Amino acid sequence: MLPSHLRRDIYNSVSGWEDINYVYDLQIDNTPKDRLSAIDEPLLNIVKGKVLEVGCGTARLHYEVSKRGCDYAGIDPSRKLLKQGYLKGVHELVRGVGEYLPFPENHFDTVIGGYHSFRYIDLEKGFSECSRVLKHGGLFAFTLWNYWSLNIHALLGDIKNMRLPRQPFALQNKDIICNDVFWVKNENHVLQNAGFAVTSLLSTKKWPLPRFSFLKRIANWQGYWHGTLGAFIGYDVIFICRNEKL
Ligand SMILES: C[S@@+](CC[C@H](N)C(=O)[O-])C[C@H]1O[C@@H](n2cnc3c(N)ncnc32)[C@H](O)[C@@H]1O
Repeated sequence: MLPSHLRRDIYNSVSGWEDINYVYDLQIDNTPKDRLSAIDEPLLNIVKGKVLEVGCGTARLHYEVSKRGCDYAGIDPSRKLLKQGYLKGVHELVRGVGEYLPFPENHFDTVIGGYHSFRYIDLEKGFSECSRVLKHGGLFAFTLWNYWSLNIHALLGDIKNMRLPRQPFALQNKDIICNDVFWVKNENHVLQNAGFAVTSLLSTKKWPLPRFSFLKRIANWQGYWHGTLGAFIGYDVIFICRNEKL
């Protein structure tokens, strides 16, 4: 169900995911459990009825969504990830991109984008498609990564691997489309244009300090920062929005 002509930037991001040669869920297992639950819980707390996950990958969230009595459907462009999901027994999966959702209007009660899938999606097109397929009053929740912590993370990785730092703010290059929340006002603006009202903005308090455990203990508080300032200093940023489009 991928459109035959994809814009080059969308195509680039999609092919990056098609080329993966690892088992995604095993890779995810390396992510600290408390960070994952801090990202996933706010999304899982709002699901009801028919739920669409945009950029679902291997349908990692399928089990938790179904456990809450909801009907899960997932869409993702990566055949390899969808196959890994299918082999786990999740069959409600469609191949496609968030910018062109092959579903009718007012079809879902909830739309979610787990683990930063919207980093790879053109926000203007993606949000307006989510609003179209979501019922009026339905909730939409997704996560992005704070621009600054993302870059600190990249820099620490470069230092650890003893290679020259990539260009400053490296992750905004032609290979990876990175939407950042430094301009969270911009994201809010795009959401509003698509018909969404942001009802809650949370960000995790994690910091990328893997090697310095004593600093990590001080810095990795539990709970969330709230609001725009929180999104500026937080790590992962979680948007919860209501569809107000009639
Ligand atoms: C970090 S993974 C997140 C997977 C899953 N949501 C999770 O919570 O584990 C990002 C996902 O975004 C998908 N993706 C990349 N470009 C996309 C696009 N244009 N539309 C929808 N999904 C896209 C990738 O294939 C990948 O599965």
